[in-house]
Amino acid sequence: MVAEVIYGKQLAENLREEMKQEITTLHEKGVHPKLVVVIIGEDPASKSYVKGKQRASEKVGMDSDLIELPEDTSEQDLLDLISRLNQDDTVHGILVQLPVPDHISDQKIIEAIDPSKDVDGFHPENVGRMLTGQDTFFPCTPYGIMVMLERAAIDVEGKHAVIVGRSNLVGKPVGQLLLNKNATVTHCHSRTKDLKSHTKQADILIVAAGRPGLVTGEHVKEGAVVIDVGVNRVDGKLTGDVDFESAQEVASHITPVPKGVGPMTITMLLHNTIKAAKRIHRV
Ligand code: GUN
Repeated sequence: MVAEVIYGKQLAENLREEMKQEITTLHEKGVHPKLVVVIIGEDPASKSYVKGKQRASEKVGMDSDLIELPEDTSEQDLLDLISRLNQDDTVHGILVQLPVPDHISDQKIIEAIDPSKDVDGFHPENVGRMLTGQDTFFPCTPYGIMVMLERAAIDVEGKHAVIVGRSNLVGKPVGQLLLNKNATVTHCHSRTKDLKSHTKQADILIVAAGRPGLVTGEHVKEGAVVIDVGVNRVDGKLTGDVDFESAQEVASHITPVPKGVGPMTITMLLHNTIKAAKRIHRV
């Protein structure tokens, strides 16, 4: 079997085209969705991510601001900025790019963002709403994965989903969203014994460990769906956590890196910002 490749890039482009039209309609109603992205410090990867977020928001006609703060910004100054953005009626989505420098508590920052503007879906209130199966802002990468599966007509109900990785950004929330859609979910992580014995049982295998080449074709059950969430730079080249060539020989569907999950993350951020604006303005 050679797997069908699921390109998030194409799907993301289609969805963004729909969003562009929706934003035009919102403008006619006097609603101008606006995203503010805050970045602290000079990390080149983070800078490139936030530029991508800002470019994408402008392309769909969304208002956006990028606030770049120096590495030595105090926690209090950042909290004050968030407080101002919370109170600013023209701002609908607030995103503070993670990780923040060590002298700033990421949890404090996440909790300072008004949950109604938390387009990352990281605030404990929104995490709790997701856990209890209520509507809320879902974290962008997990949400993008769910939309990719849905659009590829992959039904998750009753399937065994195995997730490698347990980060708050991806591993944990994607497991929760799959559980909410009635999948049977197993979480693997760095302390899991005999990783392969678990991944081999997966109907849907989601790899978000941040370790290039961790999963190969030998880890994959015949006909499984493989979603590679890894973003690693190896010799200057972007690669995932899955050895694409060997896994493609065994899987029924597989996402590439790049052009796979990545473009969906930004797309769901735009989706969440539009949703925030619609909620705030009750349209
Ligand atoms: N850093 C890496 N991914 C993300 C994300 O989705 N949101 C934020 N805020 N920071 C990130």
